[in-house]
Amino acid sequence: MKPIYLDYNATTPIDSEVAAAMLPYIREHFGNPSSSHAYGIEARKGVETARGRVAALLNCSPAEIVFTSGGTESNNHAIKGAARALRRRGNHIVTSAFEHPAVTEVSEYLAADGYEITCVPVDAHGIIDLEALEKAITERTILVSVMHANNEVGTIQPIGEIARLARKRGILVHTDAAQSAGKIPVDAAQLGVDLLSVAGHKLYAPKGVGALYCRDGVQLEKFMHGAGHETGRRAGTENVIGVAGLGAACEAAKRDLAANMDRMKRTRDCLQEGLLRAIVDVRINGHPERRIPNTLSVSFRGVDAGALLQSMEGLAASAGAACHGNAVELSRTLRALAVPIEWARGTIRLSTGKYTTEGEIDRAVEIIDGAVKQIRSGVLE
Ligand SMILES: Cc1ncc(COP(=O)(O)O)c(C=O)c1O
Repeated sequence: MKPIYLDYNATTPIDSEVAAAMLPYIREHFGNPSSSHAYGIEARKGVETARGRVAALLNCSPAEIVFTSGGTESNNHAIKGAARALRRRGNHIVTSAFEHPAVTEVSEYLAADGYEITCVPVDAHGIIDLEALEKAITERTILVSVMHANNEVGTIQPIGEIARLARKRGILVHTDAAQSAGKIPVDAAQLGVDLLSVAGHKLYAPKGVGALYCRDGVQLEKFMHGAGHETGRRAGTENVIGVAGLGAACEAAKRDLAANMDRMKRTRDCLQEGLLRAIVDVRINGHPERRIPNTLSVSFRGVDAGALLQSMEGLAASAGAACHGNAVELSRTLRALAVPIEWARGTIRLSTGKYTTEGEIDRAVEIIDGAVKQIRSGVLE
């Protein structure tokens, strides 16, 4: 029996509809989209169809979509590109204490290069302090980058309000929507952002493909230097197969959003209730309501999350942020939330997806309950 997969925030399986959309580009339409012959034209059509589908999910124009290799590249492209393009106007960037390393590491890199970074704190639920954000803005501020939904605890930031605060002062706004796209509505126009990152493998497309929404008129410094692909915005022959997959995944995400949200929330809530009912000394992290519908960060007091994950053979989940392996080092997110250490070290992230079933949830509760009780009784420590 395969382990129950409750790690959809780490990655998702490729949807069969997505795989089917990729197949023609693996087989017959292998041309280079920059070639002017029939093979190239077919590949170009695939890329442009996909661009339209990504744009439809984000409610923007296809010309505002740049294909990338994933969430990390989109964040690098947006933040470094904006920072460098606006260097003469200022050198100050505002971000939050709650970001994924694909944003924090970029900020640290820029700090070493003479930029000033302000990390605005979040409250106990992970919501950014808007007053502190407004106070942090100076004459030298050129960019505000705050994630849409957090990968570990799922808290959704008030991006619309953040964008209003920043844009009335002419400051660019970037949001990392790697964990929100496909899970909640992500409407670039409504959010009012200038730059928005998407990671394909979080919404049932393959790994190694993503997109950056770059509002019409926003100039970024070139990120990849080379030929003039993506209208000069991202050099390198397009990943046609991955791009076709991302397009199909975005089309399905838009079409099925309400049904998927309902299933993710139903199964996540059922898991949360089951764990709270079965186990004592349990704490849920993140915002109780303003949270993506699939994410459950749960702490078991006095338990070691690494030992817990190892003892649950029938269940795939993660401790801290899955992107960084299994090391149970207090994550930046848990530190930003000031989760006390005796709880923080026993924190696991469970994330449901569109294939999660009620049966899997019942079984997962039994597995987790059994493992926590064994560890607490000293059998495994
Ligand atoms: C919030 C967030 N941003 C960015 C990334 C990185 O995306 P990718 O793996 O496509 O580089 C992740 C992946 O875990 C994420 O959760």
